[in-house]
Amino acid sequence: MSDHAKLSYAGKDYDLPVIEGTEKEIAVDISKLRADTGLITIDPGFKNTGSTKSAITFLNGEEGILRYRGYSIEELAEKSSFLEVSYLLIYGELPTKPQLEHFQNEITTHTLVHEDIKKILDGFPSNAHPMGVLSSLVCSLTAFYPESLDPNRSAKEVDLSIIRILSKMPTFAAWAFKNQIGHPVNYPDNELDYDSNFLKMMFALPAEKYKVNPVVAKALDTLLILHADHEQNCSTSTVRVVGSSQASLYASISAGINALWGPLHGGANQAVLEMLEQIEKDGGDTSKFIAKAKDKNDPFRLMGFGHRVYKNFDPRAKIIKKAADDVLDQLGVDDPLLNIAKELEAIALKDEYFVEKKLYPNVDFYSGIIYRAMGIPTEMFTVMFALGRLPGWIAQWKEMRENNEPIGRPRQVYTGENLRSYVDVNKR
Ligand code: CMC
Repeated sequence: MSDHAKLSYAGKDYDLPVIEGTEKEIAVDISKLRADTGLITIDPGFKNTGSTKSAITFLNGEEGILRYRGYSIEELAEKSSFLEVSYLLIYGELPTKPQLEHFQNEITTHTLVHEDIKKILDGFPSNAHPMGVLSSLVCSLTAFYPESLDPNRSAKEVDLSIIRILSKMPTFAAWAFKNQIGHPVNYPDNELDYDSNFLKMMFALPAEKYKVNPVVAKALDTLLILHADHEQNCSTSTVRVVGSSQASLYASISAGINALWGPLHGGANQAVLEMLEQIEKDGGDTSKFIAKAKDKNDPFRLMGFGHRVYKNFDPRAKIIKKAADDVLDQLGVDDPLLNIAKELEAIALKDEYFVEKKLYPNVDFYSGIIYRAMGIPTEMFTVMFALGRLPGWIAQWKEMRENNEPIGRPRQVYTGENLRSYVDVNKR
């Protein structure tokens, strides 16, 4: 491989260094381009632009590969736990048994949130979307732990901020749901593991002896692992860019939650289920909706299909499809929406439009069906994604800080008016 690329511009040749990652992916380093040539690059949506070097997640969209810190997503989903994966992403290695026990213990002992945060929650109308509530509560941590505002503190202090948000996020997520249904909140139960505690806070009714269904807890843990990181996607890039201004961890994560909310990103899982319900209500004619998705004059898109980087298959979707079958089977749920989803997938995978554009089911196509079987309402789906993505956001924020990356500040090509003189308001 050549370690330089050549650029010819205005009669001059420039050598641009080519760098190579550990999985042989190659990039032209243009960090000195403007200084040397006066040129900038333009790449809407950053389709060809690497914003950083990162050692956290490897993704090969052509071959459908996803690895966290070198471990395949398939192996982690089968053998690991969400907290173990969280440790791996944040600290770089799988924890030893004592390290994992310590980590689990730390997370369990910080689940309670300041009682005044409940007052903030009480201020939200009950129809508030839980993603807005979640991002607000996460940002409110800056007020309760003002020392966290400085990201340049010692590693030990930063670790405490990390433990706090990992512990409190399930509490916030469950409380956002309780607010929406107008029920009193449940407090964390430190006798329970991470998943069981979350499910109890979500579903236990006052004075009820809530029993966690192990099938549901296991399915939840797998879904969280599958969502835990996905390199430089929209929300993760947001977390890194916000954090690059030296804003706090909590402010950066809160921004990431808002970026995740949109239907083209994490909000797709909610949009998929709404689409499946719409198809069912309409009589279940899947081919009609495939035709709509292909029609350039119709804004309808097949939600849960297509991905910026996966152009073969999304390895997470494969695992989730199987999990959806298993979970519904074990819970004895017969969901007609699962059949509609499978029918849509089967048609799309054979359809020239989808094949040619390399559009395959993504992680969000089947996840909503499992969440629905678990009793989680549609508007909470993206909150579940955020819960899973949290360790990835933390790991990426921490890496960006430790590498002392410069403030994120893209350039632009200006297309507005040239200099003109001000005209008095009475003369316009
Ligand atoms: N249904 C119909 N056509 C589609 C779809 C779809 N779901 N996705 C892409 N296309 C077409 C699109 O119209 C375009 O056609 P053309 O080249 O003729 O203009 C072509 O495929 C390329 O699409 P694009 O929007 O330019 O591709 P992108 O990389 O900018 O967008 C995407 C990727 C995921 C935003 C897009 O595929 C999409 O909107 N999918 C539906 C929403 C969705 O499921 N999002 C979740 C992504 S996975 C979770 C996550 O990590 O965020």
